[in-house]
Amino acid sequence: MAAPEEQAPLQEEEEPLDPVLEMQLCARGQVVRELRLSVDPNVVQKYEHVMCFKPDTPPLHVDEIATSWFGKVFDKRAEDDTTGIQIWAASLVMAYWIVDLAPELDGKRVCELGAGCGLPALATLAYSDAKQVVMTDVFEPTLENLRANVKRNGDNNSMASRAAVHCLDWTKPETYRIDPDVAVDQQFDVLLGCDLIYDNALVQPLINTIRALLPVGGTFYYVSGGKRFVFI
Ligand SMILES: C[S@@+](CC[C@H](N)C(=O)[O-])C[C@H]1O[C@@H](n2cnc3c(N)ncnc32)[C@H](O)[C@@H]1O
Repeated sequence: MAAPEEQAPLQEEEEPLDPVLEMQLCARGQVVRELRLSVDPNVVQKYEHVMCFKPDTPPLHVDEIATSWFGKVFDKRAEDDTTGIQIWAASLVMAYWIVDLAPELDGKRVCELGAGCGLPALATLAYSDAKQVVMTDVFEPTLENLRANVKRNGDNNSMASRAAVHCLDWTKPETYRIDPDVAVDQQFDVLLGCDLIYDNALVQPLINTIRALLPVGGTFYYVSGGKRFVFI
C-alpha cells in the first residue's frame, strides 16, 4: 500500500522579529502585527501580535488563532462560541486602561471572564504586581490558545507563575469553582471583562457569575464595544 502523501505546508514559519527591533518599536508605542500563514493546511491564517501599551516595558506576545474548527461561529452551546479566537477592540482599550489601573491591582487576585486571547489578563500580569490572574473561557481552542499565550510570555516579569487558565462557563455554576481543593467558590478582588454582552440569553448567566465570583467591595472593570465601566 502506498504511503499517504504528506501535505505540503502552505508556508514555513517565519523567523520571529528581532527582539531589539521589537523593543525599539514598543518604546515608540507602536503595535506590531505579524501575519503568518499556518503550516496546517486547514488553517488559513494566524495572527501573532507583539504589543506594548506602556513604553519601555517588555512587549506582550498575544496570538489569535484561525481555527481549523468548521462549526458555526455562534452555535447553540456556549462551548461552541468561537468569538474568543480573535482580539476584540474592547480588549485593546482595557489593556491601555490597565496601565493606569496597575497600582490598584497590585497584590490583588484578578479574574478575567470570557478572556478570549487574554490580552487584558496578560497586561495585568505585565504591568501590575497582581498576586494571581486567572483567565477563564469556555471554547476549548480558545482555552488552548490562552495557555499558549501565557507560555509565550513566560519569561516576562514572572508572568507564568502568577497566571492560571480555567474553563468557566457562565451557564454552569458547577464550573465557577476555580480551585477544586477549596471548599467554597473562590472569589476575586477584581473581575475583568471585555465585549461579553452580545447574546440576550447570556446576560443573566453572566450576572450570576459576577455575583458568585465577586465579594461585596470587589470591583468589576468592564469595556463594552463603546464604553468603559467600573462596577463596585
Ligand atoms: C466577543 S468575545 C470577547 C473576547 C475577549 N474578551 C476580547 O475582548 O477580545 C466573547 C467571549 O466570551 C466567551 N463566552 C461566551 N459565552 C460564554 C460562556 N457561557 N461562558 C464563558 N465564556 C463565554 C467567548 O468564548 C469569547 O471568548
